[in-house]
Amino acid sequence: MLDFIYQTGWGAFTVMLFFQLPFALFFLYVVFRKSAPNSGSGTAAEGKINVLKYVWMGSVVVLFLIVNILSIQFIPAVSTARAIASGEPILDVDVKAESWSYEISKREFDAGTAVRFNVKSVDTVHGFAVYHPNGKILFTMMLVPGVKDSSLVYKFKDPGVYKVRCLEYCGIAHHGMFDEIIVKERSS
Ligand code: CUA
Repeated sequence: MLDFIYQTGWGAFTVMLFFQLPFALFFLYVVFRKSAPNSGSGTAAEGKINVLKYVWMGSVVVLFLIVNILSIQFIPAVSTARAIASGEPILDVDVKAESWSYEISKREFDAGTAVRFNVKSVDTVHGFAVYHPNGKILFTMMLVPGVKDSSLVYKFKDPGVYKVRCLEYCGIAHHGMFDEIIVKERSS
């Protein structure tokens, strides 16, 4: 049970749903209370409003589920679990974050290599965010010192210079905490 929660994105999704459940129930309660027919003026047929109400709430729930289920594959924890399960070769890279720089055991990779970043912080809370050369953020990790090392598998597709930035405020030089990763054309 706990393995399921820790090792797959579905576990994280389930836990998240669980925590959101009380809010969702309260939200539904408020909506239904507020949508009780008004006994005063008004001309619309009550039955019609009732049907619309269920159709509307139903479509919101369906939309919520569709968006979540379709986007789960993009959660880094899910792609990590998949990469490990697939048995493909994974290159381990150790990253140590310290105010205000990174120590990265390997900074250059061939495109298409699956890289596992084993990241830890040794002083305070830092982030490890990697940006595609086009500026889009690919993933970010929050590093809490003293906690079991975080690791994540990522496969770089495009060659280029990838920026690494700390996205957790970590003191006076937080803004200067960045680094670079270089992805080269696959050498065949
Ligand atoms: Cu390290 Cu901000």
